[in-house]
Amino acid sequence: MKVKPVGIERTELLHKGKANNVWATNDPRFLELEASDRISAGNGAKTDVIAGKGEANNLISMAIFSQLEEKGIPTHYVGPGSNAASKIVLKAEPILLEVIGRFKATGSYVKRYECENMLEFDGVYVEYTYKSDNAGDPVIPNDAIVALGILTKRELGYIEYLTEQVALTIRDFFAECDGELIDFKIEFGRLPNGQIVVIDEISPDTCRILDAKTGMSLDKDRFRKDMGDVAEAYQEMAKRVAGLAEDEKSSTGGCAFMA
Ligand code: TMP
Repeated sequence: MKVKPVGIERTELLHKGKANNVWATNDPRFLELEASDRISAGNGAKTDVIAGKGEANNLISMAIFSQLEEKGIPTHYVGPGSNAASKIVLKAEPILLEVIGRFKATGSYVKRYECENMLEFDGVYVEYTYKSDNAGDPVIPNDAIVALGILTKRELGYIEYLTEQVALTIRDFFAECDGELIDFKIEFGRLPNGQIVVIDEISPDTCRILDAKTGMSLDKDRFRKDMGDVAEAYQEMAKRVAGLAEDEKSSTGGCAFMA
């Protein structure tokens, strides 16, 4: 179980993103990432504030990053931050890609290829988008990733492998919470020693999760598609994740999911 790192305190706000704040700390190796209640869709075309979202997302994200670490998948996660919406991470140089994993086709995939919604893939389908608000985050082919010098061919293979490992880990994680993972987005960065690690957040803002029994969306699609009960969906997922941690604690005397 991860605890708040001793002696690491946030100092100045470095960056206010669409959904998260990035803080410097008193130790140049670490940052504090604070999940905010801000929500946006369509590259910022639609925005709102959802009370409690930041804390819910951070609780879920810290639990998932702990799980990844336990499975040997390298991340930049260090431990909880100065408040319930924050976590301490190692500073990493972001790689300018969004890596999307899909178990079933929906969202932009269905729009792009006009296929049946929820078409099931054989395993996890991995694709990349180039992270650029100006260019509108276009899908980027593997050859272009290498040609542009974003990753070497070898690094790209490694990232694909890590993404498949992340996919299986978080699919099981959400299944334990009575949810079905449909797709997700993750990001990678490089630590100062060159190691590639999973960075940022993994939460209902960055995953599509359906309730296993009812098929109800428990993620940001409720906001994107004006389905209502947005705050309730985030709280429900956070409640399930917290419950999972309690179960683990009582059955093992330890705590596998929460940190
Ligand atoms: P998509 O179907 O819109 O491409 O989304 C695939 C998954 O990636 C879905 O779980 C939502 C997530 N995602 C983000 O987290 N951020 C983004 O900017 C986009 C486009 C998708």
